[in-house]
Amino acid sequence: MSDERAQRYSFIPGPVAFTVSGGQGVYLHTSTGRQILDAAGGAIVANIGHGRPEMVEVCANSVKGMGYVAPLWPTENRLRLLDRILDRWLPSVFTRCFFVSGGSESIDTAMRIARQYQVAKGRTQRCRIAGRSTSYHGATIATLSVANHDRRRRPFGPMLSDHPKIDPLSADQALKDLEAADPATIAAVILEPVIGSSGAGLISEPDYWPKIRKFCTEHDILLIADEVMTAYGRTGSLMGTDDLGVVPDLIAGGKGLGGGYAAIGAVVAQQFVVDPIAAAGDNIMFFTFSGLEASVAIADKVLQILEDEELVERSRTMGEKLRARLETEFRQHPNVADIRGRGLMQGLELVKDRESGTTFNGRLAPLIIREALNRDCWIYPCGSAGVPDGLLFGPAFVVSESEIDQMVSIVAASLDAAVFNLDGEQ
Ligand SMILES: Cc1ncc(COP(=O)(O)O)c(C=O)c1O
Repeated sequence: MSDERAQRYSFIPGPVAFTVSGGQGVYLHTSTGRQILDAAGGAIVANIGHGRPEMVEVCANSVKGMGYVAPLWPTENRLRLLDRILDRWLPSVFTRCFFVSGGSESIDTAMRIARQYQVAKGRTQRCRIAGRSTSYHGATIATLSVANHDRRRRPFGPMLSDHPKIDPLSADQALKDLEAADPATIAAVILEPVIGSSGAGLISEPDYWPKIRKFCTEHDILLIADEVMTAYGRTGSLMGTDDLGVVPDLIAGGKGLGGGYAAIGAVVAQQFVVDPIAAAGDNIMFFTFSGLEASVAIADKVLQILEDEELVERSRTMGEKLRARLETEFRQHPNVADIRGRGLMQGLELVKDRESGTTFNGRLAPLIIREALNRDCWIYPCGSAGVPDGLLFGPAFVVSESEIDQMVSIVAASLDAAVFNLDGEQ
């Protein structure tokens, strides 16, 4: 493919690194014959690996004899996926499942369900969703509003609605923040089990989720888990919330549900959440492409592969190996402030100087990405006000130990090269 043609792909004109022509396992292949080690599963999405031959038949069969079916009606493919999610992947208190086409739609739907729940119970003043001061929940105006990824929010400030922000790490501070925001105005609290793109794998203190859970129950505020990055095995458990000692009221997922082969997400809810909405004669608005035949058939196959090949367990064991390798490489590194995460979602928080805590203010992560791509490795950049520079490792669960070794070595070399360049600028 000509370089000129590829450059047109970037909507806002800018360099395009390469054109991808295929993939296998944890590698992406480019049209010029490079093999890019995908240390981030794209955007922490690919879990069963690239280029799985089984997906071809599933895709073809899903559209055989079937066109578009409005999301109003069940189909065999929709029911099979719904049964699998509710019966095998979630605690039994989750009885309802609503399909969408991705993570932002999934969060937006969960927000609307929370609002409809409160309105159905006569609490029309409850129109705010409390999010954390370090968080990302999606790219739409509503999901940007409840999150606090400052760089991604910046141009849209006046368009965003006002939702309370709570401390991301300390439960006691978060509870104070919620009290100060007036619980009587709050419909739901939304939290990521492991904070992804804004926090590079940040995990709150152990009592955080249990204390917020208790507060929500006492005030009949719904607890939404944003599991767009963490669900379906990424953290080494079926769901990221399985490790937290609490059960949320709604879980919003996306990314790994389709494994990168389908644009799909799902919101699951406990029965008590939907009962008042049903009693009020209300319904949940769907998106036109919610539960598209190919999407649900592919997602069902992705989950089946994760089950048959015991890949969630593998995410846990390979995650431990990745973590051990990161500890060896970076624990004493002057530019690494922290190593954290769960399963195959492991992050590095990067600084200018570990002793003083000074940072490169968002300039380091993008430079590392460039250096790593020059060395044929893709790693996910993170960063917002709370954590200005970070990286996330999130390879497919089929990753091998030698591939882990290779990706960590490349990132280490890229970090040093990037810091050298930034130091030279000063
Ligand atoms: C935690 C979290 N929530 C929501 C989203 C939005 O998902 P999508 O990009 O599929 O709309 C993302 C995407 O990165 C995410 O990491």
